[in-house]
Amino acid sequence: MELEIRPIEDWDNQYEAWTKPMGRTLGFDLSLELPLIRRQFEIDRALGVFDKGEIVATIHVFSLDMRVPGNVLPMAGVSHVCVQATHRRRGIMTAMMKRVFQDIRDRGEPISGLGASESVIYGRFGYGIGTHRENWTIAREHTAFHPPIESKGQTRYVETGEMRRVFPEVFERTGADRPGWMRRPDYVWDRIASDFDFRRDGCSANYYVVYEEDNNADGYVIYRTIGDTLKVEGLMATSRNAYASLWQFCFGVDLKSSIIAENRPVDDPLMWMLADPRRLQRSVEDAKWLRLMNVPKALSSRCYSQSGSLVIELHDTFCPWNEGCYELAGGPDGAECRRSSKSPELVMTASDLAATYLGGVTFSTLARAGCIEACVPEALGRADAMFSYHLKPWCPMGW
Ligand SMILES: CC(C)(COP(=O)(O)OP(=O)(O)OC[C@H]1O[C@@H](n2cnc3c(N)ncnc32)[C@H](O)[C@@H]1OP(=O)(O)O)[C@@H](O)C(=O)NCCC(=O)NCCS
Repeated sequence: MELEIRPIEDWDNQYEAWTKPMGRTLGFDLSLELPLIRRQFEIDRALGVFDKGEIVATIHVFSLDMRVPGNVLPMAGVSHVCVQATHRRRGIMTAMMKRVFQDIRDRGEPISGLGASESVIYGRFGYGIGTHRENWTIAREHTAFHPPIESKGQTRYVETGEMRRVFPEVFERTGADRPGWMRRPDYVWDRIASDFDFRRDGCSANYYVVYEEDNNADGYVIYRTIGDTLKVEGLMATSRNAYASLWQFCFGVDLKSSIIAENRPVDDPLMWMLADPRRLQRSVEDAKWLRLMNVPKALSSRCYSQSGSLVIELHDTFCPWNEGCYELAGGPDGAECRRSSKSPELVMTASDLAATYLGGVTFSTLARAGCIEACVPEALGRADAMFSYHLKPWCPMGW
């Protein structure tokens, strides 16, 4: 039987059927968030795979944007990739990705990103690990700061309405210079404010605390509790004072014996502020996967820490329009990237180029891993210096 991939046309009547494969594969009952999701979806970017009229697989793309060094680029945020168990491993996801990539190309979005349920899935489609995240646990008794923190401002609990008005601006300021950062669309804030029971994982409702100095909101923390654990859902700060004071607040909540936090940046300063840094247990994992959809456009749309040029040969079997050799000349003020007939200095796949794009991993590391071939060994150091950035990529935004 021929399967058909097509956009959802009659949203009101097809929505529930469209959410079924997701419920069956990932266990989310999207109908619980129906009013929110109804607003967030770009209907022409929601595809279903139909088998005799029944939707058996889904994919959706959000039109988002992502900060890269020196710029903000349109980013196609792929999500809701689900093939129900009755139809798995017949090439359906591959067919959906092909279809979606053609659409992304037609729209001219230079990069695409996603959060992967398993890290084994997306490399084959040319995605690489663009950002990492750290997850933390610390016992409250080991949270002393050295030197001690002297807070200059105040922390104050706020209710949902004030959170919704004040926090988004603090969030945007926190990430003003951070590669990988994404503006949070309203629907994500509405989802946080809705604080649906089924998203709590057995924890309490959200608590919202703002940090203020001279009546200005410079930071916030959103946390939950479960038993004697305080779980930081998000802590954003636009100044050193705000950052230190908010952690001090989290470490000072009585009756809690441990603090956990997820999705912190890999260059977070907290460890360096603690008297007993080893007590901060950190585990690192891949976070957002990135893909360069239009290689010359993506490479010429960011700035580079050091001026230089590189000749890169790229292998991109899934997006053959990217295949070939490119010369990149860039520096702190901008860059140009064009096709080249010169001999390549570095040879790599789309997925490895994507991993280096925001500076999350160096070319040298990938060469040592056997992923990048350095025809000119000196080019590795040059590439590392050009692509590095003073902040590591971080993306505390899910879509
Ligand atoms: C992941 C998922 C979408 C794959 O769909 P699918 O239609 O079975 O994938 P395809 O048949 O197109 O597979 C393409 C290739 O990827 C491999 N692959 C796909 N999913 C894989 C997985 N979870 N683990 C290992 N390999 C996987 C296949 O073996 C196949 O490899 P091959 O080309 O060497 O034969 C599907 O299994 C699913 O819905 N899983 C649960 C929900 C989920 O995790 N979604 C992803 C959200 S980010």
